[in-house]
Amino acid sequence: MNSMQLMAARIVAPVLSSILLVAGSAAHAAGNVKAGHEKARMCENCHGLDGRSKVPEAPNLAGQIENYIVAQLRAFKAGERKNEQMSVMVQALSPQDIQDLAAYYAAIELTVGKIPGQ
Ligand code: HEC
Repeated sequence: MNSMQLMAARIVAPVLSSILLVAGSAAHAAGNVKAGHEKARMCENCHGLDGRSKVPEAPNLAGQIENYIVAQLRAFKAGERKNEQMSVMVQALSPQDIQDLAAYYAAIELTVGKIPGQ
């Protein structure tokens, strides 16, 4: 390699790797709502298929902020957040499952009814 080629390689390599990084994260950045709907059957007993909790310990997920759901599921999986039920549930979820489930629950339309105290 002559010095020009070496210089070109020094410039091109980081640019290429950053393009690959962006492409890689884009590949599973977007959740698929339809796939998430199917996968949400795993969550139905506690969070409801409609995202309204069915048990007193579980929170509602309908209309929840997508990034927040992703962050919580990742935290459970990494052991940064712990819960007897959720810590077990998330073990089987792939990064794509997490994206799909978050997209699905976030896409459930939420309407607010009577606000107390008004
Ligand atoms: C056996 C019951 C059960 C099942 C099944 C279950 N969860 Fe949960 N989930 C819980 C409980 C209980 C909590 C509250 C955890 C806590 O108190 O920290 C929770 C919390 C969460 C949270 C955090 C919500 C918040 O407001 O911070 C998310 C997100 C979540 N669950 C998603 C899911 C998804 C997605 C599935 C299906 C793959 C699922 N859960 C299956 C019981 C369940």
